[in-house]
Formats: sequence, structure tokens, C-alpha cells
Amino acid sequence: MSAPMPAFPQGFLWGVATSAYQIEGAVREDGRGESVWDTFCRRPGAIRDGHTGDVATDHYHRWARDVALLAELGVDAYRFSIAWPRIQPDGAGPPNPAGLDFYDRLTDALLAAGIIPVPTLYHWDLPQALEDGGGWLNRQAAQRFADYAALAAGRLADRVGTWITLNEPFVVTAFGYALGIHAPGRTLMLGALPAAHHQLLGHGLATAALRAAGAREVLIANNYSPAWPASEGDADREAARAYDTLHNRMFTDPILLGRYPDLSAFGIGPEGLPCVRDGDLAVISAPLDGLGVNYYMPTRLSALPGSPLPFQMQPIPGYPVTAFGWPVVPAGLTELLTTLAGRYGGALPAVYVTENGCSQADQPGPGGGVADPGRIGYLDGHIRAVHDAIAAGVDVRGYFHWTLADNFEWSEGYHQRFGLVYTDFETLERSPKASFAWYRDLIAAQRAGARDDRGARARDARGSAVPGPGVPGPAE
Ligand code: FCB
Repeated sequence: MSAPMPAFPQGFLWGVATSAYQIEGAVREDGRGESVWDTFCRRPGAIRDGHTGDVATDHYHRWARDVALLAELGVDAYRFSIAWPRIQPDGAGPPNPAGLDFYDRLTDALLAAGIIPVPTLYHWDLPQALEDGGGWLNRQAAQRFADYAALAAGRLADRVGTWITLNEPFVVTAFGYALGIHAPGRTLMLGALPAAHHQLLGHGLATAALRAAGAREVLIANNYSPAWPASEGDADREAARAYDTLHNRMFTDPILLGRYPDLSAFGIGPEGLPCVRDGDLAVISAPLDGLGVNYYMPTRLSALPGSPLPFQMQPIPGYPVTAFGWPVVPAGLTELLTTLAGRYGGALPAVYVTENGCSQADQPGPGGGVADPGRIGYLDGHIRAVHDAIAAGVDVRGYFHWTLADNFEWSEGYHQRFGLVYTDFETLERSPKASFAWYRDLIAAQRAGARDDRGARARDARGSAVPGPGVPGPAE
């Protein structure tokens, strides 16, 4: 038995996260256009066992069931993504009303269930028509993204206050444009860097468009990984620094500090990336209301002299691994959050953990229940790690678990199960796993604790001769 979970600050948001292509299916319905993932899934060998997101978890038709699951889980907030090709089938021009209607209905259902909708505008499903014009390598994609943001917020911002622009521009750049593991499957290595800049520019332009349409809070969700040198030697430490620049700083320094990090490890001199134009960094660094942090694991690096990417990844021994082979390192999340706070100081806005989770080889037992002790341990460890960061002074305001139900895990197809809910991919039936009950009970206990705490404050204020702020909560 582990120690009781410490109390989180009042108002801390408990949630789960999903993304459109991984759950919706219905790829040819109601006027949706093609996305780069539809195309990539048809490329032979791109996706394990040739799986596609054509059906996924059929959320497009079963969304009401999924909202009911969210309500049962008791989350405060739900992070989902809007499929750009449902709103603009060709990535430009007037909106497809049926696409907007879908997210309108979902928003209303969430609000009726007392759940805060937190949409992400871009979780990797770029309209194929834009990719045909160069995708994120083309500067115009940034403006197209802002136009799309204005259409989505124009319909929803009267009810949706908090918006996330991009999900993990690092992964899009590295896996999508540099290494070819994800859509659009380009293998440009460092030639992918313009895709990073244009996504960041798109983030900045979309931030302005969202605010103009009435959004109250704008965030970006970045993927972060503490970069650990494989040895204490100078070369490995240098390799870890280079990796940290590319994975972590590249997508945060421009936003929070208004400048790119030193890219000299990649042969880029002080003149910087040629695609950066005057004024871009001012757009990119428009103030944000929160930084979304997606954390899965640290990365351990050794030097690779003579390579354009001067590092190579090394296994991290000594930790359990998930079904994906990812090391389970909860303390890495505390390290990451405190590092961000130390690195950016007063420039760091409130932080939300917008993704964190693990894949496990879950199977229903004889009675139909799904025991997933590994995921419960993972949740417990990582949520405590978030609390440790708060105790160390980092302003973390929420935790979104990845994910609600097993879904299409990109190039792994349906092979990695990350859900709190088991999805039977034959029948598409959903069955909550043991971790679902664990997380539900945690949320309920935290809420009850916050209520008791408020009660204690009220009693204290009444009993006190001098009206004061009352007793601070345990984690304040
Ligand atoms: C993240 C993605 C998310 C999911 C998890 C496992 O990088 O944002 O869509 O696939 O990994």
C-alpha cells in the first residue's frame, strides 16, 4: 500500500486527452477532406499490419457514449482535437458546416455534463491538399492554420474558453518531416527545420486569430523529454545538450523568450534559419495563458561525431518499460517541470500536463474485467511526480491522462493500448479498465478534499475575530 495521495491545490484540473484521427473514424463522412494520415496509412509498410484510422474507435458515431464515460470518470476537463479536414476539406476557404456541427454538438454535450471542453486545433491531421503544396515546409501553411483557427473559434468560442493551438510540433517535425516515421513521411533530416518554424509561426498567427474570436486562454502542447547524457564525458554531455536544444528548447524558447536557441551544434550559424523573417518571432512570442507539457519519458544520449545529428539514443537501463518499450520514469516528470521553471523563470506561464500515459498489453479477464495494475502504478507515480513539482514551486494547474480509450496509435496501428477504457476493436465496445476506477476515485477524493478544505476555511473565517484569508490549503 502506498501513502495516501497528497492534496492538490483547489481548482487543479483533472482530465483526459484524445485526438481526432486516433478516435473518430468516419474519414469519408459529412464532407471531411483527406488528411496526410489518410494518405500515409495507405503507404505500404508505413503502419504496423497495414492498420488505418478509417474506423478508429468510431467516436464520430459513438461520441455520446464517450461523453458518458467522461462523466462517469468525473473529469473536470476533456482535451480533444478538431480535425482540420472536417472544417476545411482542402485546408482553405469557407467552412464545411457539417464539420463544425459535429464539434458544436460535442461541446454542448460536454458542457451539459459539467466538463470543460479543451480543443486542440492541430493534432497532426493536416489537410492533404496543403501537404500537396509543401505542407509545413511552405510558409503559407501558417496563415492557412490561422484562418482555420478563426473558423473553429468563430463557431465555438462563445462556449469554449481554453484553446490549444498545436500538438507536439517537435514530433511533427522530427517524425513527420525529418525521419519519415509519421505522416507525411518525408526524410529530410535537418532540412525539416522550416516545418518547425512554420508551425511556430502558425501557432503565433492562430493565437491572435483565437483571441480576436473571443478565446479566453490560449496554450500550446509541446512534447518534452529530459535529455540525459549516457556518461559524464564531455562528448556525451554535449550530445545531450544538442538533443535538448532540438527537442525541448527549439519549440519553447521562440514562444517564451522570442528567440531561437543556439543551433550551432547543427551547423547553423548566428544568422539563424533562413526561413525566419523579420517580425516572425514577435508573432510567435505573443503572450500565452499556459504551456501544455506532454511527458512520456527521458531520452539518454551519447555522442555521434561527424553526423548532422550529433547524438544517438541509448537505452535507459534500470527502469520498468511499457508495452511500447518506453522506460517508466516518474521522477523525469518532476525534473522536467522544475527544469522548465528554472529555465524560463517569470516567462513561464501556468503549466498543464496535457498528456502522460502508458501502453500495456491489456486483455479482458474471464469475467470481462480488465486488470491493469501497471497503468495504476504509472498513474500513481506520475501524479505524485506532478505534486512534487508543485511542492517545489512550479505552477502546475492540471493533469490530462493519455488517453480515455485504446485507440489508433499512429505507426503502431492498434497495437498499443493506452486507454483507461478497453476498446474491443472488433465490436468497438468500450469497457472501463481497473485504472479507470482508480482515476475516478482519485478525482473524487481530491474534489472531496478540496470541499473539506473550503469548509475549513469558511469555518475558520467565521470563527476568527479578524476577517482574513483563512487557512491555506495543504499544497498552497
Ligand atoms: C503523443 C501523441 C499522442 C499519443 C501519445 C502516445 O506523442 O501526442 O497522440 O499518440 O504520444
